[in-house]
Amino acid sequence: MGNLSRLLKESWTLVEEQQDKVAGYFYARMFLSHPELRDLFPIQMDVQRARLLGAIVTAVQTLEDPERFDDYLNGLGRDHRKFHVTPEHYDVVGRALLESLRAFAGEQWSLEYDQAWADAYAIIAKKMQAGADADTNPPYWHAEILTHERRSRDIAVLTCRPLSPLEFRAGQYVSVETRYQPRLWRAYSIANAPRQDNTLEFHVRALGAGWVSSALVRRSRPGDLIRVAAPMGSMTLDRRSTRDVVCVAGGTGLAPIKALVEELTRYNRTRWVHVFFGARDREDLYDLPELNRLAARYPWLSVVPACSDDAGFVGEHGNVSEVLARYGPWADHDFFVSGSSAMVKGTLRTLAELQVPSVRIKYDAFGE
Ligand SMILES: Cc1cc2nc3c(=O)[nH]c(=O)nc-3n(C[C@H](O)[C@H](O)[C@H](O)COP(=O)(O)OP(=O)(O)OC[C@H]3O[C@@H](n4cnc5c(N)ncnc54)[C@H](O)[C@@H]3O)c2cc1C
Ligand code: HEM
Repeated sequence: MGNLSRLLKESWTLVEEQQDKVAGYFYARMFLSHPELRDLFPIQMDVQRARLLGAIVTAVQTLEDPERFDDYLNGLGRDHRKFHVTPEHYDVVGRALLESLRAFAGEQWSLEYDQAWADAYAIIAKKMQAGADADTNPPYWHAEILTHERRSRDIAVLTCRPLSPLEFRAGQYVSVETRYQPRLWRAYSIANAPRQDNTLEFHVRALGAGWVSSALVRRSRPGDLIRVAAPMGSMTLDRRSTRDVVCVAGGTGLAPIKALVEELTRYNRTRWVHVFFGARDREDLYDLPELNRLAARYPWLSVVPACSDDAGFVGEHGNVSEVLARYGPWADHDFFVSGSSAMVKGTLRTLAELQVPSVRIKYDAFGE
């Protein structure tokens, strides 16, 4: 472990147990010294769910992961343009961060720790700003909702068209803001490959008391404008690979998988593609008829639906990762995994047990 990283981890233990208080103090400092910054943040903000401080701490703590770090931070800085963040804001946030740490760390806080956090923050802020400066895209696009279809109690499939073209790759996601929850942005995978008419499809599940997902499922309607930020993510197809493909989707985790399959329909002749689509019950297999239609049309595509909690379902029973393990062998395939964190973790564990090399697995987890 490098010296900087050791200092950061060591000093964080001094405040770790008081995280909520640190966060409360952090936002209070920031908004008291610069009230204009309050307007960048969501209207409802409770400290447990506010994202910025936790995100900074995570970024600082992962400083040592050189492989993903640059791309990730450049992307994050680019993405922060949607929040209207300017270079001056970085100084304000950096100062509030250090003041909050000092206020709660107690006597063991040292000049060395102070310097370590200041250095780490400066490195991160610089990379984020470089990403933002290099971006030639608009900070976000306005898009009009064209269709809105409820597919189950809490799932909707919607399509929208950005008012100006938005370039992306099949398998990527964008963050979305609705007029019902201003300044609250959440990630949603684009469920189609790029199309001539520029439309984007989203598959959204309203999560309990979740703000943005329930606005998209229950309130938004055709004609509404939403905002969509620049595409992110690397769960994309490698056209040079000749390996067969296995896609594992849980619930609306099907969205990016549908995009990959749509892309494959345009050029694939030689790769077998297996889609495992898992959900709790039949109703949540909201897009199965469409998948079956595709499988009937393309001989290289096979679809295995599975329900974890539906005794009457005719088909596979169990978690999708268990079902996946019943098929195979999977030693020589490219994998794409998408769904809730629990589902993705379970599937990665299964694949590790089956000794699939991790370089052949791409995944997106939908939650913390
Ligand atoms: C890369 C990526 C791609 C994604 N793609 C998709 C996709 O294609 N489709 C999709 O449906 N989702 C997708 N997601 C998930 C999506 O971004 C959101 O996390 C999800 O829609 C929930 O957002 P929300 O604002 O509705 O819920 P939030 O308000 O963020 O709430 C999240 C959770 O906390 C609970 N909660 C809400 N309020 C409270 C409270 N006051 N106290 C405690 N708990 C509370 C909610 O019930 C919910 O379980 C993706 C996520 C990522 C990271
Ligand atoms: C080291 C610097 C920073 C890091 C690592 C960082 C990281 C993050 C991350 C990962 C998120 C969550 C992403 C998302 O929800 O889309 C976030 C959200 C946010 N960030 Fe930053 N950020 C930094 C600096 C800043 C600065 C300087 C500002 C300007 C005030 C800012 C404003 C915001 C806002 C408004 C949100 C949304 C908050 C919410 O929804 O609760 N960030 N940040």
